[in-house]
Amino acid sequence: PAPPVAAKEDFLGCLVKEIPPRLLYAKSSPAFPTVLGQTIRNSRWSSPDNVKPLYIITPTNASHIQSAVLCGRRNGVRIRVRSGGHDYEGLSYRSIQPENFAVVDLNLMRAVCVDGKAGTAWVDSGAQLGELYYAINKESKVLAFPAGVCPTIGVGGNLAGGGFGMLLRKFGIAAENVIDVKLVDANGKLLDKSSMSADHFWAVRGGGGESFGIVVSWQVKLQPVPPTVTVFKIPKTVTEGAIDIVNKWQVVAPQLPADLMIRVIAQGPKATFEAQYLGTCKTLMPLMQSKLPELGMNASHCNEMSWIESVPFIHLGHKDSLEDDLLNRNNNFKPFAEYKSDYVYEPFPKTVWEQIFNTWLVKPGAGIMILDPYGAAISATPEGATPFPHRKGVLFNIQYVNYWFAPAAGAAPLSWSKDMYNYMEPYVSKNPRQAYANYRDIDLGRNEVVDDISTYTSGKVWGQKYFKNNFQRLAITKGKVDPTDYFRNEQSIPPLIQKY
Ligand code: FDA
Repeated sequence: PAPPVAAKEDFLGCLVKEIPPRLLYAKSSPAFPTVLGQTIRNSRWSSPDNVKPLYIITPTNASHIQSAVLCGRRNGVRIRVRSGGHDYEGLSYRSIQPENFAVVDLNLMRAVCVDGKAGTAWVDSGAQLGELYYAINKESKVLAFPAGVCPTIGVGGNLAGGGFGMLLRKFGIAAENVIDVKLVDANGKLLDKSSMSADHFWAVRGGGGESFGIVVSWQVKLQPVPPTVTVFKIPKTVTEGAIDIVNKWQVVAPQLPADLMIRVIAQGPKATFEAQYLGTCKTLMPLMQSKLPELGMNASHCNEMSWIESVPFIHLGHKDSLEDDLLNRNNNFKPFAEYKSDYVYEPFPKTVWEQIFNTWLVKPGAGIMILDPYGAAISATPEGATPFPHRKGVLFNIQYVNYWFAPAAGAAPLSWSKDMYNYMEPYVSKNPRQAYANYRDIDLGRNEVVDDISTYTSGKVWGQKYFKNNFQRLAITKGKVDPTDYFRNEQSIPPLIQKY
């Protein structure tokens, strides 16, 4: 007689054997909406019409994550992982198509352990960037980490997709400053750099979240900063000459010394020049005078402070309470939002800046543009060194950001974003038109799933925009580490199985 077939355990039954029930939330549990909602940052993905997870698991150690993966695989339940929940398209906690999935939410795993002497730190994925920055500063006033600007961003997603902020010209992206990881793979194994393949380690540092396993924690290389940095924010309206200054800025800013980063926030008929300089006002002033005198920067614009104080200063415009800004996990700013991004290699003709400021940014529904100059360290790294390919020759990155605050108010901002993006096409990168993986944009394309596997050809459409020629290596790596495509979402790397 045939051997008895083992009864198929249900997913929850499997989980409760390994994970304390207080860490598990079924859709029917009263706390489920609160736990799901606590790190949803884009209110568009809160509404009932979004496909939600069946369960949320909030592990407190790596073995819980391993159990979740093993139970998920046995019972045909996929897992999406959420760290800070900032994903622009909400793919860490919602599915666009109907799907049975659970969320592993790393909110409770946020230890940071800094070794000031070695200049390194281990940080759990569930920590927010502000917690990492704060812990570094507790240990040393002259060490920093080059990741995102907004303190509530999750370490997990930010480092997985690249990660850059005001230190990008000096130290590149966060992912290239990762020296080890602890990761749960698609077989539920806990790996680190020494036990995973070189390609797998390459892929998790910038190849985007979800695809290559659940990163539990990251060991990062901290970077030296001086005890005093100088920051300024100088607004210029169009009538004060904003267009001419931005027109010059686009060629000057990428050429500046690595110690100086001047980004531009363009909003309405105004450009605000926000700078961070790794030095004092006294040395910054002659530099500004020689490189961009048109800005009229003088001593009255200088705000000297420590690097850690510069984080809230850049983010909020003041540095009143570090704890409130860096450690606050209950940020209530949860707008409805739409984002897109571009890379620019050729300076825009001045007429394009005129169109942008005089027409586009003052239309009904207009968003803002954040322009981050590249050059120096971020552009010096070869394209294949990490999956993040936007390097040599990039003048600046553009992020188009659009917020609205009532569910029904999205029509004008959404059509502005689309029209603005279409208008910019002739002036930005081509073949492919590049985009930053951490500024996820589902309009760039989404995977088709055939025979339960995301197809390489569908992935290539959006994947080459985020990763250029690194996309194929990412897909081959996915084929080796997760050939059945267990960890997936609408923009995860599809497995490319090479035949030998
Ligand atoms: P979330 O938890 O939503 O995860 C994002 C993706 O990574 C998802 O696919 C998820 O499944 C996956 N993932 C999460 N944790 C993982 C883990 N432990 N292992 C494997 N995969 C994991 N970016 C930037 O570079 N510089 C900046 O200055 C900013 N600024 C900024 C401001 C604001 C207000 C927002 C909302 C976003 C940004 N970003 C940004 C973009 C940000 O870097 C991007 O959304 C990150 O993916 C967010 O990481 P979270 O962990 O918060 O997101």
